[in-house]
Amino acid sequence: MTSQPDSPQRLSFERDVRPMFREKDHDSMLKAFDLWSYSDVRAHQDAILARLRNGTMPCDGAWPPEHVAVFEHWMADGSAP
Ligand code: HEM
Repeated sequence: MTSQPDSPQRLSFERDVRPMFREKDHDSMLKAFDLWSYSDVRAHQDAILARLRNGTMPCDGAWPPEHVAVFEHWMADGSAP
């Protein structure tokens, strides 16, 4: 495993994942968790991925598969914030 933070194959929450969550997503979900918080998204990542995959979240339209793939990749490689 590499320790290089800028290694191109590793994804960053701040740079790659957080921008996919709109203000509407953030505000709508704040009662359950904070989609703009690394630690909250990590803590709820399985539930989030399940909803993204089955298309029931966001409530107003499923993500394109390539966005879901970015989230999945970020989850799998254990990247830091
Ligand atoms: C990418 C964006 C979003 C993600 C990843 C997401 C994820 C989730 C997850 C994981 C749950 C289950 C929470 C739990 O059971 O504790 C949930 C529930 C819910 N979300 Fe979202 N959400 C997103 C956007 C939105 C938006 C835009 C709305 C509506 C404006 C919304 C409305 C709701 C509501 C009403 C619930 C509770 C009812 C239910 O479980 O279906 N969410 N969401």
